[in-house]
Parts: sequence; C-alpha cells; structure tokens
Amino acid sequence: MLGTLKPQPADKILQLIGQFKADPRTDKIDLGVGVYKDATGLTPVMRAVKAAEKQLWETEKTKTYTGLAGEPEYNAAMAKLVLGDAAAADRISSVATPGGTGACRQAFELIRMANPEASVWVSDPTWPNHLSILKYLGMNVEPYRYFDSDTRAVDFEAMLADLAAAKPGDVVLLHGCCHNPTGANLTLPQWQAVAELLEKTGAVPMIDIAYQGFGDGLEEDAAGVRLIASRRPEVLIAASCSKNFGIYRERTGALIALSEPANREVTQGTLAFLNRQNYSFPPDHGARLVTMILTDPTLRADWQAELEEVRRGMLGLREQLAKELQRLSGSDRFGFIAEHRGMFSRLGASPEQVERLKTEHGIYMVGDSRLNIAGLNTTTVPILARAILDVGI
Ligand code: LMR
Repeated sequence: MLGTLKPQPADKILQLIGQFKADPRTDKIDLGVGVYKDATGLTPVMRAVKAAEKQLWETEKTKTYTGLAGEPEYNAAMAKLVLGDAAAADRISSVATPGGTGACRQAFELIRMANPEASVWVSDPTWPNHLSILKYLGMNVEPYRYFDSDTRAVDFEAMLADLAAAKPGDVVLLHGCCHNPTGANLTLPQWQAVAELLEKTGAVPMIDIAYQGFGDGLEEDAAGVRLIASRRPEVLIAASCSKNFGIYRERTGALIALSEPANREVTQGTLAFLNRQNYSFPPDHGARLVTMILTDPTLRADWQAELEEVRRGMLGLREQLAKELQRLSGSDRFGFIAEHRGMFSRLGASPEQVERLKTEHGIYMVGDSRLNIAGLNTTTVPILARAILDVGI
C-alpha cells in the first residue's frame, strides 16, 4: 500500500530551515521562517511564560482530558484578546486548536460543511499554507489582487474590484494585521470599505490573525477584526499564540466563529465535533499558560511589556534598514520597508536575485523575496543593505 505514495512537494518556507542549517558559512543570515529572534539569534521563552510554567508545575493537579473545545477560560480570554467588546457573548463560539494553522484548517472544514460550493477568496499573495490546505481539502479558491509590486503597498482599488465578484456564501480570507508575506496592511478606513463590500456581496469574512501585537500594538492590530465583527453577522477568526506569546512548539491557537445568536449552539457543537474528528482534545499546556497570563494582572503586564519591546525592536530594524538603503542607494525606493508592519516585508526581488543573496551572500529569505525582519540585528542590517544593492534589487 505505502508503495503507491508519491513524493509530496516540500513546503518552501520549512525547506529553507534545512538549507540554512546545512550551510557551513559562519556569517550566514536567516531571514526565512517567521520566528522572532532577539539580537543574539535566540528565540527566547518570554518571561511571563516562564513564570506561568513555574506556577503551573507547582499547582497543576491532573492531566486528565480537557473539554473537546478546550477550557472555557481559555476560549473566553482569547475572544476578549482578539475581539475586545466588539461582539456579544451570545454570538461567540470558540475552540482551542493546535496553533493558528489548526484554527485555519478547522475553519476551512467548517466552511466546507456549511457550504460545499463556497469559494474561498485569498489575497494574491497569501501565506502559502493557506493555499496548500485549501487544495488538500479540495476547496474552490479565488485569488484577489492585493499587493502592488511597484509601490509595495496594498492595491486597494484592485482588491475591491475583485472582491465585488464574491457570491453570498463565499468566504473572503483577510489577514487581521501584519500581512504574511507582504507586510502591507489595510488602514482602518479600508477595513470599513471592505465591511461595506461584504455587506453588499453577502460573502463571509474569515480573518487570520497570527501576529497580534507585532504591528502597531495589541489593540491597534485587532482594530480591523473588531470593526468587521461589529459590522457583519457571521465572521470566522483564526488566532495564533505562537508568535505573540513565543510558544511556537506548544501549538496554541483558537478558532472563533461569530454567528447569529440563534445559530450559536449548533455552531459551537460543530466546532467541538470537528475537533473530535481531527484530533479529539486540543493541546492544553500552551492554552493554560496563555489563560494564566491573560487573567493575572502581573503576568499580563509583564507579557505586554516584553511584547512591546519585541515590536519596537522590529520597528527599529525596519527604520534602520530603510535608512541604510536610502543612504547607500541615494534613492527613496526602499521607504516601504519602514511603512510595512509585522515580521515580514516583500522586497520585490526576482527569484534570481533571491538566489544570489543566498549563494553569494549567505542571506536566506523565501523565494518570493519575503524577508523576516526579526532575523536581523543592528550589525547585520548594513550587511543586508549592501547585499540587496549588490544583487541589483
Ligand atoms: C511563516 O510564515 O514563516 C510562519 O507562519 C511559519 C510557518 O508555519 O510557515
């Protein structure tokens, strides 16, 4: 039986991790996978996470199963973190999931159950794993224009023009903040216009928010989601704690579904059912740490302070890189790097230029020229800037 299997395509982002490790050069620079690193190249365990783990070790009495939906306190804390007061409790269904990817996967399956004919509209470009999972599930995908490769900003007119063709019962997948892979994001008035268009077309918004707190701040980064939640009766939200809590390997995420109150019970039941079919009970360790941090004022204050240091650090690197490129090139064409938000920016380089950065300079980024700002430090910024100009970007 297993002899019938065909090799599967390698994930381009994860493939880079192996290539980088295998490169013997000591001055190589990893700007690939979306993982935060401090100036020494370490992905640290956040202080509040360590403190919560210590408390948990001392107080945890059982490791029996959690609920199929995860712990109610976790779901409530995550809904509050993402939604604030934008949706009444009688509209909110929520389950813990293995990371943000687990939340996306469950959301896509929920869409397929509710409307097998639905097309999922995805930004061009989007996180490649969105496309990969949708394809694996055999779902219809429609791209909408998003990124203007000349200005490296959102091509909002084109986006609206494409999304006008979405049908009632289709789903429009949006990135809540820190767009992956481009770094170019919607402004609040643009979110408003998207909400109005969704109202006209009857398409359902799904928002993937994997980087809350990495862009303009915890509250600011959730403003688009909250606006949509207050304007549309049905919204799906895939949230991740991997990045903002730095607990990548704990697989901690949540799928939140907003519905009409009358549909809440069945929606919640379906989310729990989907968990049972796919992996039964969701992982609990990371979810418990997140709950402790979000509900304990001291832990929460420390977490927010450290998250803010991380966010400001990335902003500082963006500004340094944009300035250095301006100084070396004498042109303003790299100003977009300081405008983008989150971990990523799409440089707009050709695959050949990306390849040259790797082979000639030992600088690794995803083939579409997405670079992870958090892979830099103040010493490597000028090295990257010189290499960018050397390969003719
Ligand atoms: C990324 O885009 O690099 C991250 O979200 C990691 C991943 O799983 O692809």
